Amino acid sequence: MGKIEGIRVKNYRVLKNVVFGKLWNTQKVAPLTPLTAVIGKNGVGKSSLFDAFGFLADCLKLGVEEACDARGRGGFQRIRSQGSKEPIEFEICYRQDSRTRPITYELAIDSDNSRRPYVSSERLRQRRRGQRYGRPFSFLIMEDGKGVAWKGDAHAPVEASGSELDKLREIGSEESADREEVELEDKRRLGIATLGALKQHPRMSSFRNFVEGWYLSYFAPNTARGLPLAGPQRHLSVHGDNLGNVVQFMERRHPRRFKGILQRISERVPGIHNIDTDRSPDGRLLLRFNDKGFQDPFYAQQVSDGTLKLFAYLLLLEDPSPPPFICVEEPENGLYHKLLETLAREMRDHAPKTQVLVTTHQPYFVDALSPNETWILEKGADGFAAIRRASDDPIVESMVNEGLPLGSLWYGDYLD
Ligand SMILES: Nc1ncnc2c1ncn2[C@@H]1O[C@H](COP(=O)(O)OP(=O)(O)OP(=O)(O)O)[C@@H](O)[C@H]1O
Ligand SMILES: [Mg+2]
Repeated sequence: MGKIEGIRVKNYRVLKNVVFGKLWNTQKVAPLTPLTAVIGKNGVGKSSLFDAFGFLADCLKLGVEEACDARGRGGFQRIRSQGSKEPIEFEICYRQDSRTRPITYELAIDSDNSRRPYVSSERLRQRRRGQRYGRPFSFLIMEDGKGVAWKGDAHAPVEASGSELDKLREIGSEESADREEVELEDKRRLGIATLGALKQHPRMSSFRNFVEGWYLSYFAPNTARGLPLAGPQRHLSVHGDNLGNVVQFMERRHPRRFKGILQRISERVPGIHNIDTDRSPDGRLLLRFNDKGFQDPFYAQQVSDGTLKLFAYLLLLEDPSPPPFICVEEPENGLYHKLLETLAREMRDHAPKTQVLVTTHQPYFVDALSPNETWILEKGADGFAAIRRASDDPIVESMVNEGLPLGSLWYGDYLD
């Protein structure tokens, strides 16, 4: 299962230049942990970081122009850091599994003369087999929709310095059967979206599939209360509106695992001792919660927000083929504070199958975390975001080693 080791975000809203985790040229930094939490005051950029991942996934799916407008982002000019004339840039370091060498994906988005966003450059690189140090070698270099790609496991023969175009020319002089010139029909689409669909480019396909599999939760209890048409569905949608369909899928296809989830939920939510589905006369699905204290069951429409939410998260984590990466903003909303440590543990226990990134304002959630899992966003002197890892502070590390929970240190202003 793929893992994100780190990401650099440049010129994306308040994230003018933020490095979160490990990149190819920061060997001493530890990669992001399977469970990572980001904390920080209002307006420091937590939602922006969450949305940076969403934006990347949307760029792949929709192309960059549509992605800039999607989800109320308001277009390229609104999302580029104020005052900046440079492209929006991402550099993401990911590892397919522990046996493969990390791959770095770089993407730059700029606006053209008619102020429409386009992909100004895109690159994939990886160290060669046996190469421990130095620059990784490219296997995709694209500029303004044109570039070179190397098939299979091949790389560029040189990793030259200088401008991107110079590199292209230099590499253009080398002839190899694995090298191909590529030109995209549409400069607003990502090269990996097109090339990642081809068998000749297995590394691009695996990266494309990885990003396509990300799950960014926009769970809204009220949407989950809707009455979907009956029919089993494998995965929970981002808004959770097919919760009942996933329940039906789990009930039919994974009855034992489903029983385990219900067991865990009933241990956590007082009163609930059974959850199943029922069908309305017009073929809609009803999610039925049996409460110990009451004779008649409750339906999703009547059950509390927190119960529904916890249920949805556990169901998501227990997905038999879970997303490789799950982002959740403020999972604490609507949950009883004593459930938060449990939720944090539950999320961590599902690693290494799924990497989880959360943003939170809740010390009880952070109590369950270690300093290397916790990142603090703050506003730098220039008004833009800066990020650091709680474990970078030796005082915090030693206090946690002495047994003080991290959330209480945060509460006591040791993390601010
Ligand atoms: N294009 C931009 N350039 C610079 N800053 C921006 C841009 N767009 C938004 N911002 C700033 O980014 C900040 C919003 O950050 P964000 O919503 O990510 O904060 P947050 O940490 O999620 O806060 P909260 O805890 O309140 O949810 C605001 O201070 C806003 O002024
Ligand atoms: Mg926010």
